[in-house]
Amino acid sequence: MLKFAIIGAGRIGGVHARAVAGHPAGELALVADPVGDAAARLAAGYGAASTTDVADVFASDVDAVIVGSPTPFHVDQIIAAVEAGKAVLAEKPVDLDLARADECVAAVGDRADRVMLGFNRRFDPGFAEVRARIDAGEIGEVEQLTIISRDPAAPPAQYLTNSGGIFRDMTIHDLDMARFLLGDIVEVTAVGQNFAEDIKEIGDFDGAVLTLRGANGGVATIINSRHCATGYDQRVEAFGPRGSLRAENHTATRVQFFGAEVSGASGPYLNFFLERYTEAYAAELDHFITSIEAGKAPSPSLWDGREALALADAATRSAHSGGTPVTLG
Ligand SMILES: NC(=O)c1ccc[n+]([C@@H]2O[C@H](COP(=O)([O-])OP(=O)(O)OC[C@H]3O[C@@H](n4cnc5c(N)ncnc54)[C@H](O)[C@@H]3O)[C@@H](O)[C@H]2O)c1
Repeated sequence: MLKFAIIGAGRIGGVHARAVAGHPAGELALVADPVGDAAARLAAGYGAASTTDVADVFASDVDAVIVGSPTPFHVDQIIAAVEAGKAVLAEKPVDLDLARADECVAAVGDRADRVMLGFNRRFDPGFAEVRARIDAGEIGEVEQLTIISRDPAAPPAQYLTNSGGIFRDMTIHDLDMARFLLGDIVEVTAVGQNFAEDIKEIGDFDGAVLTLRGANGGVATIINSRHCATGYDQRVEAFGPRGSLRAENHTATRVQFFGAEVSGASGPYLNFFLERYTEAYAAELDHFITSIEAGKAPSPSLWDGREALALADAATRSAHSGGTPVTLG
C-alpha cells in the first residue's frame, strides 16, 4: 500500500485523486494547494487531509507525491520530494526551460529511479498496444509514424501567454509519443500555422506540422491544431514493411447510425483529456505503484521528460525560423 500526497488541486490534481482513490494499493492521505480552499475541497471528496502549505507534504509520512502544480513549480517540488525520501509522479512538462530541467535531473541524480513523468498517453490502451505489437515485430521496423493530435478548442489567452508556446505545452505529448514508438529522434523540422489572430498576437501558433527524423531512419509526422470541430482528435498510425498499426479516436459508443441523411455516425470524439484518457491515467498510476513497490524504475522517466522538452525547444526554433531543420546534439 502506498500513501500519497497530491500537490496542486486543479484539473490534473482531480484526475490523479480519482485514480489513487480507485487503486487498491493507493491511499490519498494529503492534498496541498496554496490557493483558496482548492486543497480542502478536493481532499474532502476522498476523506484526505488538506493543507495550504506545500512544505507540509515533504514533512509528512506519505510514501509518494504527485506533482500536479503549475509547471514553474515542478522542479523545486520534485527535488524537495525526492530529498524528503518520497517517490514522485510529476506532471509534464518538467519545466519550460531546458536548463532548469537539466538542473532537476542533476539534483535528483541516482534517485531518478523513484521519479516518473506523467506522459499519460503511453498508457492509453490503444497506443500501448501499438507499441507492444511493434516490439513483437508484427509490422517490421517502423518506417513512417503519423501522430494526429488536435484539441477541441484553444485555452484562454492568459493560459497561452504563460504556456511556453504550442510545442512545449501541447506538442510535448506527441514528441514523447514519437520517442515511445520510433525511438531516438535526431532532427526536427516544424512549420507553425496562424489562423487565430489572438494567438498570433502573443507570438504563438495555433497549428503545426512537424517532421522528426529518427535515428533508425524512420520519420514521424506530428499534426497539431488548437481547435477541432469534431472534438479531441487523437490518432496514431505506425507503418512498416509488413503492414500498419492504427489506434483511432474514441467515441461514446461503438455503434454506428445509418439513416437517410447520414451513414456511419457514431457521435463526436470523446471531448478532451479527462474523458479520452481516463483509462490511461489509471494505468499510469498502476504502473507507478507497481514499479515503486517492486523497487523498479518507473517509465517514462525524468530523463524522458527532459528529452521531450529538448525536442519541443528544437521545434520552437525550427518553426520560428520558417521551418529550418534543427539537428539534436
Ligand atoms: N498529463 C496531462 O494530461 C495533463 C493535463 C492537464 C495538465 N497537465 C499539467 O498539470 C499541471 C497543472 O495543470 P492543471 O491543468 O491541473 O492546472 P490548474 O490551473 O487546473 O491547477 C493548478 C492548481 O495548482 C495550484 N497551485 C498554484 N500554485 C501552486 C504551488 N506553488 N504549489 C502547488 N499548487 C499550486 C492552483 O491553485 C491550482 O489549483 C501543468 O503542469 C500541466 O501542464 C497535464
